[in-house]
Amino acid sequence: MKLISIDERRRCFLLHTADSSYAFQVNAAGYLTHLHWGGRIDRMEDLPETREVLCHRHCPPLRGELTRQEYPGWGGEFYGEPALKADFPGGVRCSLLKYKDHSVRIAGTAEELVVTLEDAGYPLLVKLHYRVYTDAEIIERWSEISNHGDTTVILRSALSASFNLPTIDRDYRLSHLAGRWGKEHTIERQSINQSKIVLESRTGLSGPFAAPFFALDNGDASEHTGRVWFGSLQWSGNWKITVERNGYEQVNACGGINDFDFSCPLKSGEIFTTPPFCAGVSEEGFGGASRMLHAYQRQHLLPAEITGKPMPLIFNSWSSMGTGVSEEKIMQVAGMAATAGAELFVIDDGWQAALGDWWADQKKFPHGLKPVIERVKTLGMDFGLWVEVESLELNSRLYREHPDWVMTFPGRDTYCNIRDEKRTPMLLNFARQDVAEHIYLALRGLISETGIKYLKLDMNCYFTNPGWDAVPPEERQTIWVKYVHNLHSVFGRLNQEFPDVLMENCASGAGRSDLAMNRYFGRMNRSDNQDTLDILRMHEGFTWLHLSRMAGGGCHISDAVYHINLRKIPMKFQAYTGIMGSLSIGKNLPSCTAEELAEIRSYAELYKKLRHIPQFGELYRLASHYEHPYAAFEFVSEDKKEALLFVLGHSIQFAGKVPAFRLHGLDPDAVYGIEYFGNNPRLEGYTASITEYQPISGRGLMEIGIRVELLGDFDARILHFKARQASGF
Ligand code: DGJ
Repeated sequence: MKLISIDERRRCFLLHTADSSYAFQVNAAGYLTHLHWGGRIDRMEDLPETREVLCHRHCPPLRGELTRQEYPGWGGEFYGEPALKADFPGGVRCSLLKYKDHSVRIAGTAEELVVTLEDAGYPLLVKLHYRVYTDAEIIERWSEISNHGDTTVILRSALSASFNLPTIDRDYRLSHLAGRWGKEHTIERQSINQSKIVLESRTGLSGPFAAPFFALDNGDASEHTGRVWFGSLQWSGNWKITVERNGYEQVNACGGINDFDFSCPLKSGEIFTTPPFCAGVSEEGFGGASRMLHAYQRQHLLPAEITGKPMPLIFNSWSSMGTGVSEEKIMQVAGMAATAGAELFVIDDGWQAALGDWWADQKKFPHGLKPVIERVKTLGMDFGLWVEVESLELNSRLYREHPDWVMTFPGRDTYCNIRDEKRTPMLLNFARQDVAEHIYLALRGLISETGIKYLKLDMNCYFTNPGWDAVPPEERQTIWVKYVHNLHSVFGRLNQEFPDVLMENCASGAGRSDLAMNRYFGRMNRSDNQDTLDILRMHEGFTWLHLSRMAGGGCHISDAVYHINLRKIPMKFQAYTGIMGSLSIGKNLPSCTAEELAEIRSYAELYKKLRHIPQFGELYRLASHYEHPYAAFEFVSEDKKEALLFVLGHSIQFAGKVPAFRLHGLDPDAVYGIEYFGNNPRLEGYTASITEYQPISGRGLMEIGIRVELLGDFDARILHFKARQASGF
């Protein structure tokens, strides 16, 4: 498949994925002008001329504001959101970025077009990268800004990309992921009139108030139908995505590192590289957009060794023990966790000598971690540990030795998120090279000495005092960016050295819900909120961006579900919902009855039997808890021979029956046998109830659908469809 076509004479560029195209051209004034982003265009001749995409008759055709630039500098008659704003020597504050040259390179299954722009008055070059793949419906964009002059240029804003949307006959609708701690990935929607909407993070992390993602449609797209333009920025710190409709009905979405409190001196010869912004167009609604992002991540983003393996069943100490872990308690519970079916045993917060001192607390673990690790391994489980390496506390050796490593403004309070009197956390200035190196060595040592197979990275503070007075004043605001680069570099190196260690991106539960983290972390804490009813909504938003298999956390099956809403939820509902992701047990096992332990074990067995389908298959969200008192998620294996339907109901009323679910993505000609989990014995007495299924074809399942009975509150079913062999199911 041809990925990049170039008309050298017209200086016109056409990029392709299998189902979409993206085009731009150099206009008469030398600006790179957007022509098309949407369905597939095969002929260069079909593209409009640059003047034809202008929306207003009464303006000079080259007026900056109307020229839909691919990467506008702030300057001239451009009044929209600039991709670049810089201060040049002599007090010049505008940038006019004009086409200089281009090149194409091939990188594996991808091709990359690099178009170089140059400022009209100063040797500042901007290389625009466009990467397209043969095996992904995604275009990746980023930029490299380099100073070829003798004098320092100050970058005030340097975005990754600017996307121009086609003009349509009605208002666009913006969908995005918002929230806060305990309510992450909430889907929000609004229509775009003449205005500017800013989605952003200023916490120093990429969340938790928004995730770096946007989706735009004409207001009619549904989960399964309609065209959706979408994009996600791969950045784990402050970011900004601006969606703007200007006075000429032109809609633009641009984004990158947040320009808030940002300034970066670019000395002679230096290069500033912006993070990738990946984007695509789905013709199959929001579900199609998610599947495109999922496939792209599987093939090109996630840590390969981890993604190829099933997610283990995890026992995590947090919800049952809090920070009160000890050798004695772990020894007591490890055997029970193994009997319950756990494959990985994780000691959460509390094992460490102090935040910053990443060795075992001597009082709690008088013999170090060795005996507990041996016990866990003898029981046939892998072992994992929690860390929060960006924090340190007053009462740590690290602080005594390096008080200057703390992130602070002179004379201001250094503490953040004080959780109890015993702990006074502060943030390390990870932007410092020596700090990052120290953490890298500490973690490398910890992983090699303990042989852990799992590392949970927590982060419970937002930046409160992002000061850095050890560097010259003009470099201090680079702290936001250098911090993130170092964070990625530390975990990128660890991932390379220990590719079989599964790392969890926890960050207090989705505090860093961005695709950049997914390059190194195979699991994510979707939320600290384990109330399974809330999860039905959060999981929908979570899977807009992330693979369902990444949905972790410490305690899907646990009593921790109560702590947010004080709602009691049956264990079956917790477990069935958890099986869609990376299931974990957080129950206080010693206090469970024999029946409860047996019940947990049955869910462990079910998880192991079924997990290959949600973890390696395609996701179709069939019913949303935003619209119904139930949610339904379907997963189909790659070869279409197996599928799972999860139906999770809450508060069914008036003896109502849930409508049939029409499945998606099956082989129409295959006949599927159905195994059924989660029968509700109270349904047995009703003649109209359906608790048994006959084999049915893929076509039947997709056209007619399948009915699933739900009763009352918190009722859940899993249906397992398996294409029949000659010998039957
Ligand atoms: C917040 C995390 O989200 C929890 O899972 C747990 O690890 C605590 N921090 C520990 O402090």
